[in-house]
Amino acid sequence: MARKKYAIVGAGGRAKSMFAKPIATTFKESAELVAICDVSQVHMDYYNTDVLPSPVPTYKSFDRMVKEVPFDTLIVTTRDRFHSDYIVKGLKAGKNVITEKPMTIDEKRCRAILDAEKKSRKKVTVTFNYRWAPPATLIHNLVQAGELGDVVTVDMHWPLDLRHGASYFRRWHSHREFSGGLQIHKSTHHFDLVNWMINDVPEKVSAQGGLDFYGKAGPFRNDKCRGCPHQKKCQFYIDIRNWEFNNKFYIPAEKETGYIFDQCVFHESINVEDNYQVMVQYKGGARLAYSLQAFAEWEGYRLEIQGTTGRLEYLERHDTHDWEAKEDVGIVVMKKDGSRQVHTPPKGEGGHGGGDLPLQRALFEGGKDPYGRLAGAQAGANSILVGVAATKSMQNNNAWVKISDLLKG
Ligand SMILES: NC(=O)c1ccc[n+]([C@@H]2O[C@H](COP(=O)([O-])OP(=O)(O)OC[C@H]3O[C@@H](n4cnc5c(N)ncnc54)[C@H](O)[C@@H]3O)[C@@H](O)[C@H]2O)c1
Repeated sequence: MARKKYAIVGAGGRAKSMFAKPIATTFKESAELVAICDVSQVHMDYYNTDVLPSPVPTYKSFDRMVKEVPFDTLIVTTRDRFHSDYIVKGLKAGKNVITEKPMTIDEKRCRAILDAEKKSRKKVTVTFNYRWAPPATLIHNLVQAGELGDVVTVDMHWPLDLRHGASYFRRWHSHREFSGGLQIHKSTHHFDLVNWMINDVPEKVSAQGGLDFYGKAGPFRNDKCRGCPHQKKCQFYIDIRNWEFNNKFYIPAEKETGYIFDQCVFHESINVEDNYQVMVQYKGGARLAYSLQAFAEWEGYRLEIQGTTGRLEYLERHDTHDWEAKEDVGIVVMKKDGSRQVHTPPKGEGGHGGGDLPLQRALFEGGKDPYGRLAGAQAGANSILVGVAATKSMQNNNAWVKISDLLKG
């Protein structure tokens, strides 16, 4: 079988473990990594010395890479802000594009991607790995099999614990210009799950939220943990030099990327919300109430879906690093006749609750996708636009924002 050729733009932490290494090892029979592009030569050199079994050409110029190296599919894994630039360029160059979530960070960039895909003969795939976690797939299948009748309301609440939540406020994610805010960067996963599980399209959004724990809300601050005078009293103090990877990868690249991996979580420049509540009205009539707090005492999600004939409840607790469910309560479906069934999802292997590995198999080995888990650009748009609308609503006295207005331009 001819191997498909892939090039990566954005040789960071995620691309290393999700794409570069798996392509070059687990999937080497069907896939081949032929080039990488990044603003950081340090990052690309690390891939060639420490990640890949044999080195590949590296490029600081994306246009040069496209000109010099033939490939089929572009994988976009830069910081979120730059996804759209490369997705559009990739499509124009006649490549299929696989992009990490969020597809992009605002409505203008979103429209550019949808237009470019329409004009091309190529396809954008958004890697919504959460769809591939066994409990999420099972919930989707139960709802789509009509177990609950017509969906009327969905409640999804997703606290992030202090360890995981704080990690976003140490990094580029804490600046809206790079991530769009957590309602886009993080909640794109969650909004996509709901859109996909109930097979509906969001119509309008209202939200409230704030920055109440990190950033200016904190008790003291410094630029970064290294050299911080508050380190003895700060529960968020970390010495990133204790991890060998950081010493070889993120720290030596700081001059090239401007990315400080241990930015103070109370830094004054932080300009994204750390908690929010979002209401979504769907075209088909369902209503979603959603919340996220990035400074919670536990992490996981609580999901309640009320239909006309049944109700589904699910609670999943995560250890933020291995995503092991801490309480295996199963997916409970209750019916109006008083019956109650507990569905136990199969245990997943690999990262993100068992989502990463089956997604990699689908991307790099092909095969059937009976549950529609491979998402396209429209699904990428439908999820980020909820976050974009939520931001606009928060900035405008919680007004309802219509998604169709965002798509009009
Ligand atoms: N699906 C998931 O579960 C998951 C998990 C982690 C990250 N991600 C996504 O993966 C992407 C990368 O995240 P990460 O954690 O690897 O971040 P990272 O900062 O480690 O990597 C980003 C890489 O992009 C490079 N870069 C930045 N600006 C660039 C530009 N203009 N042109 C070319 N390269 C540029 C950086 O030098 C870096 O190597 C993000 O979009 C993030 O949302 C997804």
